[in-house]
Amino acid sequence: MTTIQEHCCGADLFFNKKTAAKEYRKYLKKGPVKATAKIIQQLAAQNVTGKSLVDIGGGIGALQWWFLQQGGGQTTDIDASSGYLKKAETHAHDNGWQDKTSFLMGDCTDLYQNVEDPHIITMDKVVCCYPNFKEILSATCEKSKEIVSLSYPMDGIISQALRKIGDLYFMIKKNPYRPYVHSVKEIREIFASKGYQRVAHDLSFPWHVETYARN
Ligand SMILES: C[S@@+](CC[C@H](N)C(=O)[O-])C[C@H]1O[C@@H](n2cnc3c(N)ncnc32)[C@H](O)[C@@H]1O
Repeated sequence: MTTIQEHCCGADLFFNKKTAAKEYRKYLKKGPVKATAKIIQQLAAQNVTGKSLVDIGGGIGALQWWFLQQGGGQTTDIDASSGYLKKAETHAHDNGWQDKTSFLMGDCTDLYQNVEDPHIITMDKVVCCYPNFKEILSATCEKSKEIVSLSYPMDGIISQALRKIGDLYFMIKKNPYRPYVHSVKEIREIFASKGYQRVAHDLSFPWHVETYARN
């Protein structure tokens, strides 16, 4: 298993400036991708006005921009990718959101201690980047004051096959980053054990999209 430091370096290489620019152009043209749009739909059922959001692995920031447009309060983006962070920070600046946004580079389990506990934490397509899902999910459940919304891969044979192709790709590229398909059952058990109940569930192949609220 790769260490978190190797993993973050690999994520920074893979989710680079070029990928960020491509995704940002796509976002401007078509809006959030399907799984992200479903997280937005689920969060729209909650009251986000004046609330705070920590978006883990926020990418180009689609969730944060929606949140701020809805009257959300402060947002913090913690990402292992300098390319994504730069793109998101530029977008925030261009929209006059400098005072409402923060951008931190690194591993979220390291950086949580530097951030005030938010009302909401989002992790859109991030758990599949992370080797130790129990650690990241437990820390996230403890950190959030109210809501955790996330998308993560289904754990059937198609996802496992895609993961193996991903492994091969990153091995050939000599990149320590690896994709992961974690047990759906175990992911849900972590939320239950931390005192959360699922309040929304959607599928957007190959992703489960779920929102959990503290009991
Ligand atoms: C597949 S991308 C998803 C980006 C965005 N959430 C979206 O759905 O478009 C995964 C993101 O998670 C970030 N990431 C991976 N491991 C991370 C970690 N340990 N801490 C913070 N961010 C991480 C990557 O840098 C990348 O931005």
